[in-house]
Amino acid sequence: MTKAPFVRIPKPSELPESEATEESLHRNRREIIKSLGLAAGTSLLAIPGASANAATTGFPTKLNKKYLPPKGTKPTEYKYITGYNNFYEFTTDKYEVRFRANLGWKTEPWTIEIGGHVEKPLKLDVNDLVKEVGIEQRVYRFRCVEAWSMVIPWDGFQLSKLIAKAKPTSKAKYVMFSTFKDEKTALGFKNYPNYDWPYTEGLRMDEAMHDLTFLATGIYGKPIPHQNGAPIRLVVPWKYGYKSIKSIVRIDFTDKQPKTLWNTAGPDEYGFYSNVNPEVDHPRWSQARERAIGTGGFVERIPTLKFNGYEKEVAHLYKGMDLRKFF
Ligand code: MTE
Repeated sequence: MTKAPFVRIPKPSELPESEATEESLHRNRREIIKSLGLAAGTSLLAIPGASANAATTGFPTKLNKKYLPPKGTKPTEYKYITGYNNFYEFTTDKYEVRFRANLGWKTEPWTIEIGGHVEKPLKLDVNDLVKEVGIEQRVYRFRCVEAWSMVIPWDGFQLSKLIAKAKPTSKAKYVMFSTFKDEKTALGFKNYPNYDWPYTEGLRMDEAMHDLTFLATGIYGKPIPHQNGAPIRLVVPWKYGYKSIKSIVRIDFTDKQPKTLWNTAGPDEYGFYSNVNPEVDHPRWSQARERAIGTGGFVERIPTLKFNGYEKEVAHLYKGMDLRKFF
């Protein structure tokens, strides 16, 4: 993001053919939209034929009706969500990620370690964790700092459920998340040596405990694809997308604000808080509007909302803070 001030607008013809034409997905999406539109009863959104070995399998997703598509939106098509990605461990090319992340990278089994200021340091297998806490589906807006956006049906669970298991002590003021660093698996570590690998991110404790803060293990009822951060990634819908770290291997509770990859790479461009704010421009581009991927043909520019539309839910967390200073 530091080196790409302008995002190249994708053409539909550049999207992967195989998924663009996968009828089962289109059919399923129609069913999902129908069920979301009706907003009635329970909607089991698992796509038939989903891979048999990943964290969502066997744990059907039930739509949580508190988190329906925001008014005036509908979920972005699966082919766009999984065909236009940022995952710098593999490549900075958004269309290449889906290929590079599927060249033998193994995401099963997958362990997350939890440490730092906790009563119970933990080492957890992701499948066991999902079995224990269960999963639900929530539809959230997703807004990248590069001024594009999607509306994504995530499957997963509230981060607070995992935090409760680790029992942080009173010294825990922040949470730090880390992604894998395996140079054999992903070329980005060698190709982009200036980044402070592994990719890390952080939240303040109250942000981490917020009801909206989610760990995703699936999309549209299917196990989360490699390119979207398999097998487990963070989703913080009121913050710019780079806070939503993929493929988490460690979670540490700290007493100091943790360093993060983007804040280290460009402190004047990527703040620690990174709340979506149309009133604070990125030094190199406006944040007032966004490209809604997959709408109006392919791309439509719509106004960006404060806290990405979640102002009512989260504004209180930042009372008294100057959000121009703490961007
Ligand atoms: N997590 C890791 N580990 N590596 C990354 O490069 N990119 C971030 C975020 N999480 C990134 C990451 C950025 S910039 C964005 S916008 C989102 O993931 C993109 O998520 P998506 O590809 O699922 O849309």
